[in-house]
Amino acid sequence: MGESGIAEKLVEVLHRPDGDRALRPVHTIGIGATGYFKPSPIARNFCIAQHFREKRTNVSVRFSNGSGAATAHDGWSDVRGLAVRFHLSDGSDTDLIAMTLPEFFSPTPEDFLNFAEGAKPKPYKGETPWQKIFNLLQVILPKRDPYPGETISPDEGAIEFADQNPHAQLAVLDAAEIGAPVSYVRESYHAVHTFVVTGADKTRRWVRFSWQPIAGVLKTNPNLPPVDDYLRQELKGRLASEPARFSLMMAVGEVGDDFNNSSRPWPPHRKRIMMGTLTVNAVPEDQIEHSEKLSFNPGLLTEGIETSEDPVLKIRIDSYKISSERRSATPCPFSQG
Ligand code: HEM
Repeated sequence: MGESGIAEKLVEVLHRPDGDRALRPVHTIGIGATGYFKPSPIARNFCIAQHFREKRTNVSVRFSNGSGAATAHDGWSDVRGLAVRFHLSDGSDTDLIAMTLPEFFSPTPEDFLNFAEGAKPKPYKGETPWQKIFNLLQVILPKRDPYPGETISPDEGAIEFADQNPHAQLAVLDAAEIGAPVSYVRESYHAVHTFVVTGADKTRRWVRFSWQPIAGVLKTNPNLPPVDDYLRQELKGRLASEPARFSLMMAVGEVGDDFNNSSRPWPPHRKRIMMGTLTVNAVPEDQIEHSEKLSFNPGLLTEGIETSEDPVLKIRIDSYKISSERRSATPCPFSQG
């Protein structure tokens, strides 16, 4: 299968039976917001991209639930997304797409296709209390009970895949216990892939970006019944009284780190540079324009930031274009040339 064949197949396989083909196949429920980014005083030494050199850059962001379900299940355990578009002063844009999972499931597009096929949601198979005790005695983790109204689950297939494919185990385990945040701005988000940045002295560095919430990470209590739809309202209410902020951290890779495989984390003691602060301060009324119609792309980059050779990062560039065309979103500026 050629590259574009896989990119297309990936979009197809990500659609869930409870999704809506007119919407995104994943990260379907979300909310658009606006704000600005201010670089730290040292950021420009490490990356010459415009938004690290200029005082302040306006941004459009979209927070999302990772699931492809077309109805909000905010209180369910799920990965969340934060896509940021920096509106540069020369009129161009650059995107940074991140999620709450610190690593990805697969090192290659082919492997992710197998994973996504294996993890296609299946009818929820519950376990009796006896089965749970029996499993615990054998040190098999008991399965989570379905949430009220949850009939299909991707966990079953994902766990089976991870049993056969050790590289997927870290992400599958992290995803299985990720929980639900009290707010979209009380999560940390990771861009996961390696990018190559050029510094003021032309030094090129292999780096990974993540957003850390200034307010700290806070999850809901998993023992309380989940609330279906609260995150969008919470964000509107919060921003009406105060802005929310995130620090942009950049970990610098070293010889021996895996630059082209986002399923492998780097050692936690890698040097991290504080690159700037994102302030999110408004939720526009028109959510069709500022959320539904938006299309982000991990390949929409600007001078000073390049993709690494990570094949998953490369295939995403095509998959996001295909998905955006299918749902008739406003083409990402990158697709137009
Ligand atoms: C081969 C791997 C992947 C594939 C095929 C894939 C596919 C997709 C597709 C098709 C969309 C919808 C795009 C649109 O219609 O605009 C999407 C959205 C999204 N993906 Fe991925 N994805 C992959 C990996 C990742 C990774 C590694 C991350 C985290 C860094 C990520 C984070 C997101 C987020 C946050 C959104 C929502 C963007 C928005 O708010 O518009 N994805 N993905």
